[in-house]
Amino acid sequence: MVVEIRRGVIYVGVQDWDRRLFDELIPLPDGTSYNAYLVTGKEKTALIDTVDPSRKDELLDNLAELGLERLDYVISNHAEPDHSGAIPDVLEAYPEAKVVTNAKCGEFLRDLLHIPEEKFITVNDGDVLSLGGKTLEFIIAPWVHWPETMLTYLREDGVLFTCDLFGSHFASSDIFVMDRCAVHIAAKRYYAEIMMPFRGLIRKHMERLRGMDINLIAPSHGPIYDEPEFILNAYSDWTSDRVKNEVIVAFVSMHGSTRRMAEHLIASLTERGVGVRVFNLTQTDLGELAMALVDAATIVMATPTVLTGPHPTAVYAAYLINALRPKTKFVGVVTSYGWGGKTVDALKGLLSNLRAEFLPPVVVRGHPEGDDFQALEGLAEEIVKRHKEVIGND
Ligand code: FEO
Repeated sequence: MVVEIRRGVIYVGVQDWDRRLFDELIPLPDGTSYNAYLVTGKEKTALIDTVDPSRKDELLDNLAELGLERLDYVISNHAEPDHSGAIPDVLEAYPEAKVVTNAKCGEFLRDLLHIPEEKFITVNDGDVLSLGGKTLEFIIAPWVHWPETMLTYLREDGVLFTCDLFGSHFASSDIFVMDRCAVHIAAKRYYAEIMMPFRGLIRKHMERLRGMDINLIAPSHGPIYDEPEFILNAYSDWTSDRVKNEVIVAFVSMHGSTRRMAEHLIASLTERGVGVRVFNLTQTDLGELAMALVDAATIVMATPTVLTGPHPTAVYAAYLINALRPKTKFVGVVTSYGWGGKTVDALKGLLSNLRAEFLPPVVVRGHPEGDDFQALEGLAEEIVKRHKEVIGND
């Protein structure tokens, strides 16, 4: 697509409608896009990021459609190949162009793409590059979500090019956000899957951004925000320490015992006014689970004990939850066993990154009966009490 978004600032990215998986892990129900932007000043022209190498031809076609004969700079905000992978092709098509990036990103680009040293111009935080009436300022913002990440700010137009930060995996013919509800969901999913482990650092970077005059936020995935407050406010909420009166019940059951316990707990929590998000781990979209982790005060892992430990499906989910480091305050474990095991300790180990308190587990031999259901109601009561302590009565 070729669309002028501001005078002299042209969208030249690619919509990937069909892609359904990212990193061979992350589901993409709405596809994705690789956004790239051409900024033309009176003297120089810069391309901000490129596209996934699988779509390089479309990027080059977009530049050709504009009649671009000379490109002075390729600004690389982030070295991950879905944005940098077409840089070698752009350099081949425009041999005079230099790659402008920070030192760390340059290292990665040399390692990943074997771009020669002499092609780089290295910038530091706060450096500016004048294109003639268009001034690019570089903001080093590490760990959103790699250590080399950088934002580029076009001063005259107040456009902030954020690469992955504030992005959404959302292919659309709308260059700007039109369906706010759909984009909010896609951006939350994206935050949960990619940015959540870096919540504290994002909050710090946002303090700096809040002091800037931003008219447009132009990420490298998903629609552009022409009302930046929309996504800035969403991120303020998601990255805050506030949790909601919600419990995630993530369960797997082999012969019905764990399912019966999960169902009793779900009913007990619901009766007590707690919001419950239920995920059958054998069927769930892990992106949906990640999204629920953004807000929930408590996670309950419900799993049978298999060969002395949690069911492997629960192990996989726990591994991902641990990697995403949600702000969850409490963890519960519900398990049914046949002859013994270490499921509770194993889950504590698997979830060690969480700054969460483990509530007393409910451990049942075989199929649950009278006292076991009372124990589950006790867990529900404890959750209600602990939520009141951290959330209040809202
Ligand atoms: Fe969209 Fe971290 O790459």
